[in-house]
Amino acid sequence: MAGGVLTRLAVAGLGLVGARHAAAVLAHPSARLAATVDPMAERRAAFDAPGFADIAEIDVALDGIILATPSALHADHAEAALARGWPCLVEKPIASDSAGADRIVAASAAAGLPVLTGHHRRYHGSVRALRDIIGAGAIGRPVAATAIWAMKKPDPYFQVPWRAGPDGSPVRINMVHEVDLLRFLLGEVEAVAALGAQPVRRAGRVENGAIALRFQNGCTASLVFADTGLSPWGFEAGTGENPNIGTTGQDYLFIAGTGGAVSFPSLTVWGGAADWGQAVAPTTHRVEVTDALTGQLDHFLDVIAGREAPLIDAVDARHTLDVILRIEAALEAAA
Ligand SMILES: NC(=O)c1ccc[n+]([C@@H]2O[C@H](COP(=O)([O-])OP(=O)(O)OC[C@H]3O[C@@H](n4cnc5c(N)ncnc54)[C@H](O)[C@@H]3O)[C@@H](O)[C@H]2O)c1
Repeated sequence: MAGGVLTRLAVAGLGLVGARHAAAVLAHPSARLAATVDPMAERRAAFDAPGFADIAEIDVALDGIILATPSALHADHAEAALARGWPCLVEKPIASDSAGADRIVAASAAAGLPVLTGHHRRYHGSVRALRDIIGAGAIGRPVAATAIWAMKKPDPYFQVPWRAGPDGSPVRINMVHEVDLLRFLLGEVEAVAALGAQPVRRAGRVENGAIALRFQNGCTASLVFADTGLSPWGFEAGTGENPNIGTTGQDYLFIAGTGGAVSFPSLTVWGGAADWGQAVAPTTHRVEVTDALTGQLDHFLDVIAGREAPLIDAVDARHTLDVILRIEAALEAAA
């Protein structure tokens, strides 16, 4: 709502990320936390807002809703919210499967209401700067990229039932961010290969692996991941964007182009040489970094008000999910 009136938002699902969304809404000068939804009463009690055990029970007026519920429930919850006339911010992945994503795309179209998907990295200042560096041609044509994401998750993380199954795999929870980031930077993925293993927890879902991607622009990329590996390398550790994950400030993503290279998040650009006969020299770019979740909320308020179209709508997010599902199929085939 424009003109100084606070936009009334609900947050459904008050777990790891939903509690952060609710805090961001409470802190936002243009938004009001009008409702919380979670079957766990103690989680609702943590916020000074009308609380409901189920979305169907909400009996207060809303301008929009943030769905931070387990991924397998996104489609049911988005359909219910859109039928009530509420624009949605749906956490990533958009759904657990293509059918769920299709249902959200259809419900958004049928209601004529926007769905924004929670790929919040797209609002991170360093990501925007990296995209600008590549877009400005500072590294020429991107040809090769590699990232290593190795973050050791604590055992209690997996004691939440929905994370015990495939929805808790680092492919669905973490590589979905990496794939969306690379799509944001490099364009669409045309081919996928992957190998994985589960040597440590052996809990029926992949723990570590290597993913190869080829993009339509001809760039190839590798993503190496482990949710059992204790390392300084990962988007969250490098950028410090997640208060639940320790900050190291180390680079974890490296992109080479025909005219230079860039590492992230330091935004060190290497260039100034014609070919391998000369050493490339580094230049560091400094950017002002703001909280990505708050940047996403700013944008959601603009989407609700009709001032902006979703930066990543349900159709776009379904493309990211499609790549994840293809990676999972490749992992399965190579198991
Ligand atoms: N963008 C990010 O960085 C990020 C980070 C973490 C999780 N996520 C995504 O957010 C979603 C939630 O993940 P999480 O780690 O916060 O999970 P979580 O298990 O910590 O929290 C989920 C919450 O949803 C509640 N819930 C369950 N059923 C519900 C229902 N019917 N209605 C309302 N609430 C219900 C649970 O009680 C719990 O409090 C997942 O889709 C996940 O992939 C995104």
